[in-house]
Amino acid sequence: MKIALVGSGYVGLVSGACFADFGHDVVCIDRDEDKIARLRDGIMPIYEPGLDALVDSNVKAGRLTFTTDLAEGIKDAAAIFIAVGTPSRRGDGHADLSFVYAVAKEVGEHLANDAVVVTKSTVPVGTGDAVERILADSGAVERGHRVAVVSNPEFLREGAAIGDFKRPDRIVIGAEDDFGREVMREVYRPLFLNESPILFVNRRSSELIKYAANAFLATKITFINEMADLCEKVGADVQDVARGIGMDNRIGSKFLHAGPGYGGSCFPKDTLALLKTAEDYDSPTRIVEAVSKVNESRKRAMGRKVLETLGGQEDARGKRACLLGLTFKPNTDDMRDSPAIAIAQTLIDAGVNVAAYDPEGMDQAAPLMPQVEMKDDPYAAIDGADVVVIVTEWNVFRALDLGRVKQLANAPVLVDLRNIYRPEEMAAQGFTYTSVGR
Ligand SMILES: NC(=O)c1ccc[n+]([C@@H]2O[C@H](COP(=O)([O-])OP(=O)(O)OC[C@H]3O[C@@H](n4cnc5c(N)ncnc54)[C@H](O)[C@@H]3O)[C@@H](O)[C@H]2O)c1
Repeated sequence: MKIALVGSGYVGLVSGACFADFGHDVVCIDRDEDKIARLRDGIMPIYEPGLDALVDSNVKAGRLTFTTDLAEGIKDAAAIFIAVGTPSRRGDGHADLSFVYAVAKEVGEHLANDAVVVTKSTVPVGTGDAVERILADSGAVERGHRVAVVSNPEFLREGAAIGDFKRPDRIVIGAEDDFGREVMREVYRPLFLNESPILFVNRRSSELIKYAANAFLATKITFINEMADLCEKVGADVQDVARGIGMDNRIGSKFLHAGPGYGGSCFPKDTLALLKTAEDYDSPTRIVEAVSKVNESRKRAMGRKVLETLGGQEDARGKRACLLGLTFKPNTDDMRDSPAIAIAQTLIDAGVNVAAYDPEGMDQAAPLMPQVEMKDDPYAAIDGADVVVIVTEWNVFRALDLGRVKQLANAPVLVDLRNIYRPEEMAAQGFTYTSVGR
């Protein structure tokens, strides 16, 4: 089966490489000429473990190609996936659907065979209907082609994207007719054989499932973060509390790690977009509203937590902080909405000099935080620091040479926003140690 992916970013590229690995004939399309040229040279536009090898082997097998030419790329494709970005629309938080609609129009203008057009981008309820109208208006149906519009949201996690794609908890397919369902069954045939759960629902349910899932996970994170604050006040330990509630199967232990607040390319924008949908339909989602607000204020609050270790707003001026980890989570170079941005800004606003090290994210981070000095290794960033802050739990920070840290830093002060060290051990090593909810 030939499959086309329009948009070769995180989702389009990972999905394309995995579909090719299933044995399909895949074309990844992107309007970014530089990205396509680099992909043809075997250079990945993103850092994602295992992706370069997967792309390489499927390119060599002749199953995966890249192009900027949409008309050529979608020719004879039975399934055309739209995997372009749906960022927050500036000013109001609605999902910006202009990229999705532009692709739908272009596909409609060039479609020359029967095909299923699949929205893999995260799109608000009703977007499938709009895509259907755009395709009809652009003449594809008039030219006699059978076209179905299907929703197939993506649930992969950055940093574990390939495993998530190939061994998903579930695949959600929102289709309105048999043609759409049949083609999607064929697309995911290897996973059917694998007995991965595949859920067929109507298109609007599918679109909402994605937002509901992200909003629920964001709620879980925010809940444990608020519990962490309470733990600090009452002398409880949030890790014990998380374990104690997570062992209840009805709650589950995942997403109960207290930290600096969620970031990334999905939760912040998707919770906002869900709020806007709810508002439009006059069905407010107050829990999600609270989650979004609490999370936003938490990021700067974490910056203030660091300032306290420097003697508060006034005394912090002119001191030096080292941030270890900048990406919103480990194993990605994605800086979109990372808590590190707000934390760094809070410190800079208070006159603190900030140095940082991140294993993969510094190229993306540098333009977002021009006042932060990027260093080539963790110890260079620690050198002369009055406080060392663990912002992202990359493995390299789990086993720092603490003796060396003490030697290089100006003071043995460590703020661990991911709770990767034990308070007793840090105290025994002579550190003034602050973590989250303990
Ligand atoms: N990143 C994730 O972890 C993740 C997970 C699940 C769902 N999603 C959703 O998937 C969608 C894509 O996210 P992403 O992170 O892959 O985005 P991305 O920004 O990494 O990639 C989008 C790509 O689309 C290309 N593009 C834009 N307009 C185009 C056009 N008209 N023609 C061809 N290419 C075009 C861009 O050049 C870019 O390469 C979003 O809706 C996102 O919410 C993302």
